Amino acid sequence: MQKSLIKKNEFDLVSIKTKDLKKNLMLSICKLKNSYWSWTIPKQLEWLKKNAKKEDINNMMVINNRLIGYTLLRKRIAYVNNKPLKYFYFDSFLIDKRFRNKGYGRVLLLFNNKILKRLKKHSFLVCPKKTISFYSKYNWKILTKNSFKIMDHKPTWIKNKKNLYGMVYNLDKKIKKKMLYFLN
Ligand SMILES: CC(C)(COP(=O)(O)OP(=O)(O)OC[C@H]1O[C@@H](n2cnc3c(N)ncnc32)[C@H](O)[C@@H]1OP(=O)(O)O)[C@@H](O)C(=O)NCCC(=O)NCCS
Repeated sequence: MQKSLIKKNEFDLVSIKTKDLKKNLMLSICKLKNSYWSWTIPKQLEWLKKNAKKEDINNMMVINNRLIGYTLLRKRIAYVNNKPLKYFYFDSFLIDKRFRNKGYGRVLLLFNNKILKRLKKHSFLVCPKKTISFYSKYNWKILTKNSFKIMDHKPTWIKNKKNLYGMVYNLDKKIKKKMLYFLN
């Protein structure tokens, strides 16, 4: 019910490359991330500076000058059949807990989808089983376990490795070979 109450002009959607992020906004991103992936703010900042490359895209939702939603699209390379394929690793997607279940996650995900379509690139994410249904609603497709491999990273935030699923958006249906994803 609440979802229909969201008005277009009550939030802003912002897309900024890492190289153009101001310090204050970086800090807000780290605080928001730390509310879910609990670490420390200095560690979050260290992570962002180390892992978000200059051309990576930070997609955000702002309400009343406050950051309430975030995604990092990391421009990376996958290999298919020994050939490199540019893609975006979909990372750190979250909505401030006070704003969840009101339809904002949907809006921010659709904003990401639109940008990916415009860039003509596919995106890949990993998530636990319980979140598959969320992404599936918005045209993300689940990959079978043996159709992809992450080459250089082990996500630590999913405790049980069996509960790690790969999903893609905007991937050419003709690709049938195993996707080898580099996240770093
Ligand atoms: C996942 C998340 C971003 C969803 O944001 P949200 O603003 O609460 O989602 P919305 O209100 O837009 O929900 C849209 C739809 O998805 C469903 N949904 C919401 N969260 C869901 C979840 N965690 N799993 C499955 N479905 C979910 C809603 O019921 C709704 O469905 P409906 O339209 O059929 O009623 C938010 O719960 C969050 O930040 N979670 C913590 C971080 C996280 O888990 N990130 C994903 C890492 S893979």
